[in-house]
Amino acid sequence: MLNLKGRSLMTLLDFSPREIQYLLDLSRDLKRAKYAGTEVPKLVGKNIALLFQKTSTRTRCAFEVAAHDQGAHVTYIGADGSQMGIKESIADTARVLGRMYDGIQFRCFRHEDVLELDKYAGVPVFNGLSDLFHPTQMIADLMTIIEEFKTLKGIKMVFCGDAHNNVANSLMVASAKMGMHFVAAAPKHLWPEEKLIDQCKKIAKETGAILEFDEDIIKAAKDAHVIYTDIWVSMGEPDSVWDERIKLLSPYQVNSNVMKSARKDAIFLHCLPSYHDLKTDIGKKIHEKYGLKEMEVTDEVFESKKSKVFEEAENRMHSIKAIMVAMMR
Ligand code: CP
Ligand code: NVA
Repeated sequence: MLNLKGRSLMTLLDFSPREIQYLLDLSRDLKRAKYAGTEVPKLVGKNIALLFQKTSTRTRCAFEVAAHDQGAHVTYIGADGSQMGIKESIADTARVLGRMYDGIQFRCFRHEDVLELDKYAGVPVFNGLSDLFHPTQMIADLMTIIEEFKTLKGIKMVFCGDAHNNVANSLMVASAKMGMHFVAAAPKHLWPEEKLIDQCKKIAKETGAILEFDEDIIKAAKDAHVIYTDIWVSMGEPDSVWDERIKLLSPYQVNSNVMKSARKDAIFLHCLPSYHDLKTDIGKKIHEKYGLKEMEVTDEVFESKKSKVFEEAENRMHSIKAIMVAMMR
């Protein structure tokens, strides 16, 4: 019997395929229980701190609703909501919060910071996104893929765009662990770090996963089950990188040609938020400066039947609930 009680979640690299499968099964069970009205609160009397150095819609709300459904209480601490960083170190903050809370979610800039918090907290810490990884997103993504294709083994997932960001790194790790076929369709300059690729290739040898890297997006997308993309400039990166990213990544936009190259029953996923129209401030600014009406994905694909992005977003809540129930209960 698997027991994840007391564990922290920094990256899926620390979890075995069986442990990941356990979280996926529990996510499915908790989703069914919520829909069926049979959910049993397992976190009554628990408290969780939600520390955010960066903004969030999905991750914050998923933790809050999941905690509430399970009977736990949350404290949201935004970027300027505590002494951390300015007057108090991460290690000291961790030791204070660890005495009051049963779990801590931390969305941070530098991955080392969530590792530092975890080192000192003494309670489970969940990485709610760092510059390197976004592990809670992965459980929701894998769950959404299983809902469509019933399995993960052999599923071909093509990540198009900024393949060296936190989401792409995490998808490569998740694919390696779960025996999937992962392709990064991106300019070479934006492929994941060599060290992480090597680490994932070692895992792939054991799980039968295939990991590929391709500069030709149409070729990469051929016969894919899942086409995935993310924004071209991540939170915490300077505005100055927009110029280069637009130049490098415009050919990697997910459009109807890319979807046509994939399987007939392929789905489109995106962790969100997305610049697929001009209804955001940044979308408008980029349009004024560069003339782009849509960026990493066309509005046509985003709004199409193949797009499962809102199922994926909903699954953030069910899967984060599973993570908390498994590790904090
Ligand atoms: N996908 C995701 O993490 O979204 P938020 O930034 O809104 O939490
Ligand atoms: N790569 C994006 C993911 C947002 C959920 C970022 O870090 O901003």
